[in-house]
Amino acid sequence: MSKRDFLSTADLTRAELDDLLDLAARVKGKRPGQVLTGKTLGLLFFQPSLRTRVSFEVAMVQLGGHCINLSSDDLYELEPNEQAVMDGAAEEHVKDAARTLSRYGDALGIRAASRTGPWQRDRQELLLRSYAKFASVPVINLETSFAHPCQALADVMTMRENLVSLRGRKLTLLWCNHPEPKSLGPTHSVLQLAALSGMQITLAHPLGFEVDDEVLQKSKQVAGEAGGSLQVVNDMQAAARGAEVLYARSWGSIKHWHDAEREAMVKRSLTSWRVDEQLMATTNNALLMHPLPVRRNVAATDAVLDGKQSVIYEQAANRAHVQKALLMQLLK
Ligand code: CP
Repeated sequence: MSKRDFLSTADLTRAELDDLLDLAARVKGKRPGQVLTGKTLGLLFFQPSLRTRVSFEVAMVQLGGHCINLSSDDLYELEPNEQAVMDGAAEEHVKDAARTLSRYGDALGIRAASRTGPWQRDRQELLLRSYAKFASVPVINLETSFAHPCQALADVMTMRENLVSLRGRKLTLLWCNHPEPKSLGPTHSVLQLAALSGMQITLAHPLGFEVDDEVLQKSKQVAGEAGGSLQVVNDMQAAARGAEVLYARSWGSIKHWHDAEREAMVKRSLTSWRVDEQLMATTNNALLMHPLPVRRNVAATDAVLDGKQSVIYEQAANRAHVQKALLMQLLK
């Protein structure tokens, strides 16, 4: 029997999404018990994490299994390219690491979101996809520069809990300022799942911060087929007006990928891209969402992050519930 990976929200059908979220709602309501006794999840983090790491560990422990966590300090530098002549810095090929780890554990989670080259290279998620190719156990994407599917599952679960049905509901995905260039992963993945759910999506960002065009065009098509829509605007005020969900997050410029200094310079004129009470007042009493970590008073003010419309901690809490459901499906 072939193994199942969870690498992208683009791979999910509507029925699979509904099944997963229904299971997550059930496990949130009532703990399913020790259904993964004796199972081991290996977590490999090539970048820092608070929520992803802890929520996966909590999920595994509460299901009766356990995790082994490795950070880049613990790991050899890896070579993802096939037939590479390994006379550079990389000490180990991903092929060997993945095959070895598959003999110790039952699944692998990998966060590999660093900028390693031009966008056309980083969007291919080489390290993650190479692990998935060579591991004989399920591989879970814990965030790349291109996708963050586990975050998006928690996002959609949180929206469903608050709005019940998502079809036709107005979601604004809003770029906001940040001193560092951030991954496009959370934005791409929540965009894909909101499209699959038939939401009326407005994607708002300054010029130069376009998302990946293939993701955008496919999401437009999927949203249309699901009874929703997707429009792109470059005006923050217009985007927020009438929104039922305002999802704020910064992401890096594909145009200036691998030129962080240039991006930082461009962002000096974009400090007004910040969610505050005035902006929230123009929405339709919108839920305020952010996947965290958030730069307070840069991306969004304290007043709105701590305000009554904010569901940022519900979002974070739902990471554990959706991941329990995912682990139960992948490891059963
Ligand atoms: N949202 C999210 O993935 O948080 P961490 O980076 O803390 O894991």
